[in-house]
Formats: sequence, structure tokens, C-alpha cells
Amino acid sequence: MGLLDGHLAFVTGGGSGIGRGIAQGYSREGAKVIVADVNVAGAEETARLVEDAGGEAWAIELDVANMQAVQSVARKVEADIGPISVLVNNAGIVRRATIDSATAIDDWNDTVAINISGLFNCVHSFQDQLKSTKGRVINLGSIQSFVHTANSVAYTTSKGAVKNFTIGMAAELAPFGVRVNAIGPGLIFTPLNEKGIQQNPEMLERFMRHIPMGRPGTPDDIVGPAIFLASDLSQYVTGVLIPSDGGYLTV
Ligand SMILES: NC(=O)c1ccc[n+]([C@@H]2O[C@H](COP(=O)([O-])OP(=O)(O)OC[C@H]3O[C@@H](n4cnc5c(N)ncnc54)[C@H](O)[C@@H]3O)[C@@H](O)[C@H]2O)c1
Repeated sequence: MGLLDGHLAFVTGGGSGIGRGIAQGYSREGAKVIVADVNVAGAEETARLVEDAGGEAWAIELDVANMQAVQSVARKVEADIGPISVLVNNAGIVRRATIDSATAIDDWNDTVAINISGLFNCVHSFQDQLKSTKGRVINLGSIQSFVHTANSVAYTTSKGAVKNFTIGMAAELAPFGVRVNAIGPGLIFTPLNEKGIQQNPEMLERFMRHIPMGRPGTPDDIVGPAIFLASDLSQYVTGVLIPSDGGYLTV
């Protein structure tokens, strides 16, 4: 018996890092998983890892910033596989640059389109399926839903918006039996920040001074909260953002 037996989960950005970990963790708990990513090779690799471990998974190419594409994938998923009962809005980007950098305008527009509108596009497109299954939505926020870290004003803005999107949707969808929550990872080693950290060891030191538990996180540190929020263990929990950050926000 798994905590997610009978569930069908749709994980955006599931082709790498935290999303891949969540897809694998959900499968271990009995869910079938649809792995959606703009990087289809990554999504296929995650689906293969799930299937090699005895689970059932599908890989889909999807840019969550493209509303028409999300709508068409939602229709196809319902027709070909079935209505989803768990939506994990995990796809996200971070671009670290100051507001006077040459890339600032593109960074802002891309970050808003993926990290904010991507969530809206997915909840909007899957709302009927989620209502029919009394589903659960899990959004990926960040410690930056609460605080800033260097040179990332677009990202901080976007993750603050994830927090408020979560409470707004939780209130609106609760009467339909749909719960909406979020997770706020701290520093998790994934391809998202690998390059930035290699190029800037000082950034790692700055983060580490802020982590009482004394270690960076791994995708597994996010999988447990993601299973909790998708399962009936959290049946009376909605509208919250659970930090999983080694204590980053305490000091
Ligand atoms: N790694 C961290 O330290 C950290 C900390 C806080 C929050 N987060 C959040 O967790 C989530 C996952 O991050 P990660 O560290 O696993 O990153 P990652 O870069 O390893 O994975 C992100 C995935 O999202 C996909 N993606 C990007 N844009 C997309 C789009 N438009 N449509 C569909 N897929 C797209 C990428 O191809 C990639 O596979 C993000 O929302 C991120 O902001 C990460």
C-alpha cells in the first residue's frame, strides 16, 4: 500500500532535479506519473527511471509558459490517460543578474512567464480534471518567497507571487475539494544552481552561513513534503507554503 495509490500526477519540469525526484517518489508511493518538460530528453529519462523501478510514467514535451500548448496537453492527457489528481507546478528558472545588466529585461520577462504565468496556465487548463478528482496542487515556491538572495529580483518577485497564488487558489478551489499548497526549498543542489555555485564559491559560503543544519539539500529533501501534500495525510491542509530549507529562514 502506497500513500498515493490510485493517483495520476502531472509534474512540470520533471526532467531534472527536484521534479525528477518528486516523479520518482510519487511512483514509489503508487502514483502513475506524467513528466512534462520543455526538455523532452530529460522528461524521457525520468520516465525511464520510473519504469525501470517498476512504475508507470509518460513523458510529454511542454513549455508551461505557452497557454495554448498547456491547454492542448491537458485535453490530450484527459483523453489518452485520464483526469489527473495531482498537479505539481515545479518548472522554474533562475537567472542571477543585477537590474542594470544587459539581460535584465529578458530575464524579467522569462521569469514571470515561466515561474508565475506557468502556474496559472497549468491550474487553469487542468481545473476541471482537478475538480472531478478532488485533486491536489503543489506549487514550488522557495525561501525567496520570503527573503531575497543576491542578484535575483525577478526570481524573488516570482516566488513571492507563488505564495500568494497558492493562498488565492486554495481559497477559491476549496469548495470543490481541491487543496492547493506550496513547498519552499532552500539551497538544493540541482542543475538549476550547479553552474552559479561553481562560478561563485562565495555564494555557497553565504548560503551555508545561513543553514543551521549545516548542509545543502538534495531533491530527496523536497520529496517527503511533496508526498505529504499530495496524500491524504494532509487532508485538512490547504493554502500553506512549507519551507524545507535546513533552517535557512530561522537565522
Ligand atoms: N534548486 C534549488 O535550490 C531551488 C530552491 C528553491 C526553489 N527551487 C524551485 O524548484 C523548482 C525546480 O528546480 P530545480 O532545482 O529542480 O531546477 P532544474 O533546473 O534542475 O529543473 C527545472 C526543470 O524545469 C524545466 N523547465 C524550465 N522551463 C520550463 C518551461 N518553460 N516549461 C517546462 N519545463 C521547464 C527545465 O527544463 C528543467 O528540467 C523550480 O521552480 C525552482 O525555482 C529550487
